[in-house]
Amino acid sequence: MMHTVKLKSGKYSFQADAYESILDAAIRAGVPLNYGCSNGNCGLCKANIVSGPTAQIRTHDFVIRDADKIQGYALMCSTSCQGDVVIDADVVTSVSDIPVQKLRIKVRKIDRVSDDLAIITMQVPRTVRLRFIAGQYVRIYDDQQRSHEYAIASCPCDEKRIEFHVRKLENDAFSSLVFNHLSIGDWLNIQGPYGDFVIDDTKDSPIVMIAFDTGFAAIKSLLEHVTAQDKDRPIYLYWLACGVEGLYLDNLCRSWDDALDEMHYIPLHMSRNINEILDSQYEGMCAIEDNLSSSLHYIEQVKNAEVFVVSPDPVAKLVQQLLIEKGFLATQIHHEVIRGNPNLKCIHSSA
Ligand code: FES
Repeated sequence: MMHTVKLKSGKYSFQADAYESILDAAIRAGVPLNYGCSNGNCGLCKANIVSGPTAQIRTHDFVIRDADKIQGYALMCSTSCQGDVVIDADVVTSVSDIPVQKLRIKVRKIDRVSDDLAIITMQVPRTVRLRFIAGQYVRIYDDQQRSHEYAIASCPCDEKRIEFHVRKLENDAFSSLVFNHLSIGDWLNIQGPYGDFVIDDTKDSPIVMIAFDTGFAAIKSLLEHVTAQDKDRPIYLYWLACGVEGLYLDNLCRSWDDALDEMHYIPLHMSRNINEILDSQYEGMCAIEDNLSSSLHYIEQVKNAEVFVVSPDPVAKLVQQLLIEKGFLATQIHHEVIRGNPNLKCIHSSA
């Protein structure tokens, strides 16, 4: 049976089953409760039960002092709610609240969604979790222990499953590993999370997301996080891609557009493939500008939106220029470079 858990601060509430920990329910709902081990050892999830019935659902090694127990303190990773409850709990408010972790994760699935794009799904061991905020990235270590930065494409609400989007590249050690050698069941070392390309959950303003090519990975994580929170924030998703297979998860985006009232998906498909864009430089940027300037009118009604752009720097500058011309402020626009594809840094600006 589901119950409502409210935070005393009034900023968050979520549904929790009587048989799961309050922490598990919070993670699933995208509510950033503070925690560490998630199995009763560290005490970081200790919170005060302000009101409502709860039950301890497993023993834990962390010792809560008797005086704290009397005042209603309990571990959220080891406690369930047995009715509607109010808790006074610490929440993560900044990327600096999340420690850098080192994990060994297992390849669970490799989807070759096109000739040159693979989506790899990794499994975190049963007893650990990767703590991160949507929009962050990790360093993945290859078999020579060289590190490669990749955005996490999955949602923190599903921390056991970590997803990466890998473009096939020449002379790139990790891309070569993924496309030539990596198999289901292999293990990889990762370290992270890093980066501050994250959404301020305390705001209710509309969100505009603009992804270029595999910059969609970080955007997908942000989008899944926002939808897990079930807040009805209007979302405008632009995906600018090259070649016929560039919108490699187009069906997923269209299904979100169909299912979510406040979601608007605007695919921007350029006829040139990524190599032609890279080779043509100036003409490539002109094609990008043409596509963007002819479609940004969709967001003229949401000038209070937060804008998240994952693209090469020149594309981000172009987006900023176009949005400022439409009345947006530079402070509303957040930019992240595309992780995992160093080639995209060499697109030149037409400005
Ligand atoms: S998260 Fe470590 S004790 Fe609950």
